[in-house]
Amino acid sequence: MSGWITGIALVTTKDEKTGRNIGIVCNSLTSVSLEPLLISWCVDKKTKSFPDWENAKEWNVHILAAGQEDLVHRFTAPVADRFAGLDITYSDSGIPILPNVETYFTCKTFAKHEAGDHLILIGEVIDYQDSIAQPLTFFRGKFLPGPHA
Ligand SMILES: Cc1cc2nc3c(=O)[nH]c(=O)nc-3n(C[C@H](O)[C@H](O)[C@H](O)COP(=O)(O)O)c2cc1C
Repeated sequence: MSGWITGIALVTTKDEKTGRNIGIVCNSLTSVSLEPLLISWCVDKKTKSFPDWENAKEWNVHILAAGQEDLVHRFTAPVADRFAGLDITYSDSGIPILPNVETYFTCKTFAKHEAGDHLILIGEVIDYQDSIAQPLTFFRGKFLPGPHA
C-alpha cells in the first residue's frame, strides 16, 4: 500500500480515567458514509495508546497541511507528553484540538470492527472545520507537499 498516496491525519482523544491527552499519526483514514456522515481509520493493537482508542467515545481527526511534518515527528516520538508546549484548545467534550490545523472533524465512535492486528474505528462526524488549501501527502515512505486547491 506504500504505492497508494494518502494524506496524513493526527487523531486525538483523551484517557477517560486520567484525563491525559492522546494523539496518534494515521494514514488509514477513509470516507465511509454520507448519511449518516461516517469516516473510519484503523488502529494497530500494538500501539501503547490502543486501550484508549478501544474505549474512546469521541475523537478529533486533524488533516495535516504541507509543511507540518514537525507534527508527525512530535506525534510518533516516544515521549511522555506529545502535546507539551502546543497551544491546544478543546472540543465541547474536552478532546484536544491542535493549533494551526485548518481542517478537522469531531467524531463520536459509531462502530468498531476487529480486523486482524488492527481495530477499525468508525466515527460519526458531529462537527467539522474545513479550510485546508494544500495537504501533506505520504507516498513510498516519503512526506511530500500535495497540490494547491
Ligand atoms: C505516516 C504514518 C502513518 C501511520 N498510520 C497509522 C495508522 O493508520 N494506524 C496506526 O495505528 N498507526 C499508524 N502509524 C503509527 C503510529 O502513529 C505510531 O506507531 C505511534 O507512535 C503510536 O503511538 P503509541 O504507541 O504511543 O500509541 C502511522 C505512522 C506514520 C509515520
